[in-house]
Amino acid sequence: MAIEKGTEIDPAKGKLGVLLVGLGAVSTTFIAGVEAIKAGLAEPIGSLTQMGTIRLGKRTENRSPAIKDFVPLAGLNDLVFGAWDIFPESAYDAAMHAGVLEKDLLAKLKTPLQKIKPMQAVFDQNYVKRLNGENVKKGKNKFDLAEQLIAEIEEFKRKNKCARLVMVWAASTEIFLKQHGVYKTLKSFEQAMRDDHKAIAPSMIYAYAALKLGIPFANGAPNLTVDVPALVELAEQNNVPVCGKDFKTGQTLMKTILAPGLKSRMLGLHGWYSTNILGNRDGEVLDDPESFKTKEESKLSVLEHILQPDVYPELYKDFSHVVRINYYPPRGDNKEGWDNIDIFGWLGYKMQIKVDFLCRDSILAAPLVLDLALFLDLAQRVRMKGVQEWLSFYFKSPMTAPGLYPEHDIFIQLMKLKNTLRHLRGEDLITHLGLEYYD
Ligand SMILES: NC(=O)c1ccc[n+]([C@@H]2O[C@H](COP(=O)([O-])OP(=O)(O)OC[C@H]3O[C@@H](n4cnc5c(N)ncnc54)[C@H](O)[C@@H]3O)[C@@H](O)[C@H]2O)c1
Repeated sequence: MAIEKGTEIDPAKGKLGVLLVGLGAVSTTFIAGVEAIKAGLAEPIGSLTQMGTIRLGKRTENRSPAIKDFVPLAGLNDLVFGAWDIFPESAYDAAMHAGVLEKDLLAKLKTPLQKIKPMQAVFDQNYVKRLNGENVKKGKNKFDLAEQLIAEIEEFKRKNKCARLVMVWAASTEIFLKQHGVYKTLKSFEQAMRDDHKAIAPSMIYAYAALKLGIPFANGAPNLTVDVPALVELAEQNNVPVCGKDFKTGQTLMKTILAPGLKSRMLGLHGWYSTNILGNRDGEVLDDPESFKTKEESKLSVLEHILQPDVYPELYKDFSHVVRINYYPPRGDNKEGWDNIDIFGWLGYKMQIKVDFLCRDSILAAPLVLDLALFLDLAQRVRMKGVQEWLSFYFKSPMTAPGLYPEHDIFIQLMKLKNTLRHLRGEDLITHLGLEYYD
């Protein structure tokens, strides 16, 4: 049932535990960032929940509160972090290893970061070929591993006196898996866990454990994870909001900013060639063809959906779209993403656009983790459940209801997000019609 306009929202009272699967570059940059902001060392740049405003009513009313004042969100001082990783290093050591943030900054945050020690992971190298670590749980079967996670999460909640929890997958990209018969129902999924079926990836075991406990789940990687019917069924059944897949940062962010603009002017596209060099652990994992395939699928679908070749065959039929990722250690987390875009205009005359984005992957991803944790927690306090399409803004490959195509255009995604917030608070939606100013 749809959520009513101006519905009641439970207050954000008490501590919110943010459970991170994977304590790598993204997770440590996120945690260190929150600690730096709390200590007054930095501003929450890139975070809509912390810096964004929302216009209400007519342009003449001058009402534009901060989003965090408009809807009740957990405050940064109320966040508590927990994580799992296959490597036992603390968040401090993992952040030093990731090499995203400067050592001087990390030194100032050493005390809180050192306290975060990863719990033992549910891991199987068959799903992430390039990694192997020792900090891994053993269990009779996949169902048993889920039960271990459930007990551990309950213990975490109790020990840290959390009022609520959310879970975010920020672990390595798993190999490409297609939808499978065992995902069809919760019953067949649970049986497959007991049977140690190979269609059940570790990420699904975490998602299952979260949903069983009523914990909202966001998937920051392109793996299927929670995007299977059985887990959406469990989310609905237990009134849990979920969202994914794959944080929208870097090159795909640029694509979903540029492509809507080209389409808005009815400019055609012959081809879009994208290549990336990056040298972090994510890049190393993606150097394996099976993990890259998962990423490639996620990156490729974006342009098709934005440009709608079926609706505009003269402009977008058969455009060539190539995406490459190359592991190149010297660059570390500082990725370089090149795009060569072959467009055409009036009378078919050809033009080219070149984009060279010298970006920092985890710097772009960290604020998304924060926003997703806070918005998912809000969604739960509003009693929203199942797939949260309004959070598509954050993802390369947004989850939707079955049969619905995803919305990739970042401007539509932002409007959807803000209109959802207006709806929740009983404000009129903004249509941008504007005729009333000229009556
Ligand atoms: N940084 C970005 O801009 C960005 C954008 C979109 C998606 N992502 C995705 O986010 C994820 C994290 O990226 P990152 O740069 O932090 O990578 P990373 O390699 O630095 O960190 C991932 C961590 O996950 C751990 N891990 C792997 N499997 C695990 C498991 N089953 N349980 C617990 N821990 C496990 C690894 O040991 C590693 O420490 C990747 O899947 C990446 O593709 C990142």
